[in-house]
Amino acid sequence: MGNSNVAPFVKWAGGKRQLLPQIKERMPKKYNYYYEPFVGGGAVTFELLPANALINDINKALINAYRQICNVPEAFLEAVNKLDSEMLEKRTEDLGKEYYYFLREHYNDKLMKAEYDVELAALFVFINKHCFNGLYRVNGKGLFNVPYNNSRRVSVDEKAIMGISEYLQGVTIMDGDFEIACKDAKKGDFVFIDSPYAPLNPTSFESYTKEGFDIESHQRLAKLFDELTAKGCYCMLTNHNTELINELYGNKGYIIDVVSVKRMINSDASNRVGEEVIICNY
Ligand SMILES: C[S@@+](CC[C@H](N)C(=O)[O-])C[C@H]1O[C@@H](n2cnc3c(N)ncnc32)[C@H](O)[C@@H]1O
Repeated sequence: MGNSNVAPFVKWAGGKRQLLPQIKERMPKKYNYYYEPFVGGGAVTFELLPANALINDINKALINAYRQICNVPEAFLEAVNKLDSEMLEKRTEDLGKEYYYFLREHYNDKLMKAEYDVELAALFVFINKHCFNGLYRVNGKGLFNVPYNNSRRVSVDEKAIMGISEYLQGVTIMDGDFEIACKDAKKGDFVFIDSPYAPLNPTSFESYTKEGFDIESHQRLAKLFDELTAKGCYCMLTNHNTELINELYGNKGYIIDVVSVKRMINSDASNRVGEEVIICNY
C-alpha cells in the first residue's frame, strides 16, 4: 500500500524517522501480519503502511488520538482547527502562553476523569505541537507537565489526517502492555520493536526507570524476543548500543548491527551523536 499523504501526526521522543533507510533495508522480504507493540508516533508504520497490522502503545492518550483519527477524522479536525484559530487570535506572546497553560490544565482535568474522547485527542495533538520539543512527560500524579514552546504553527496537516484515517481502517489499535499486544503473533509475522531506550549510563540507577520502563521491562522484552523467535516470527529491535542490550541479545545467534544517529532530544550538546543497534533474528 502506498499513500504519500500519510505521515506521523505527533512529534515523539525516540521517533524512528532518521533510521528509516536502515530499517527498510533490513526488513524481511515477505511477511504476513505486521506488529508494532511500541508504536509511539508511528514513523515506521506510516512509512510501511502494512495492509494487515496491529499497533499498540501503553500511552492511552496517544492511542485515543489514533482511535479518534481513525473513527471520526472530520470531528477531530474541527476540534483541532478550533484550538488553532483561538491560538492565532492571541495577539501577544504572553497571551499565547497563557492559552497553552489553560488548555494544558483542561487536558489534565480530562485525563484525570479518563474522558478519552475526540476533544482529548485534539488537545493531545495541539499540546504536542506547542510544547517544548514535542516531549510527553507526566508527574507522579500522571499530570502532563511539559512547558510551552512559543510556537504558533497549525497543529495538523488535514490531508495527512484524512490519509491516516483511511489507512487505520484496517489496523487493530491497542493500548496496553507490549506482551499482550504480541500474544497472537504467529510464524511468518513481522514484529518491529522500538521500546523506550536502555540507559546510556549503566551506573545511574535513576535512568533505569526512565519512562517507567525499568531493567525488568528490558529483561521481559528480551524474553519475549526469544519466544517470538522460537515461534518463527521475524523480529527487528532497535535500541541504544549499551552493555545491557548487548548482554540481553548477544550470543544468541541474532544479528546485531551498530548504526550512528543524531540525537534530537538531548539537552547535552556533547551527547547528540550516538550509536544505536538494529537487532534481527533472521
Ligand atoms: C521509543 S518510543 C517509540 C517511538 C516510535 N518508534 C516512533 O517512531 O515514534 C517507545 C514507546 O513505548 C511506549 N511504552 C512504554 N512502556 C510500554 C509498555 N510496557 N508496553 C507498550 N508500550 C510501552 C511509550 O509510551 C513510547 O511511546
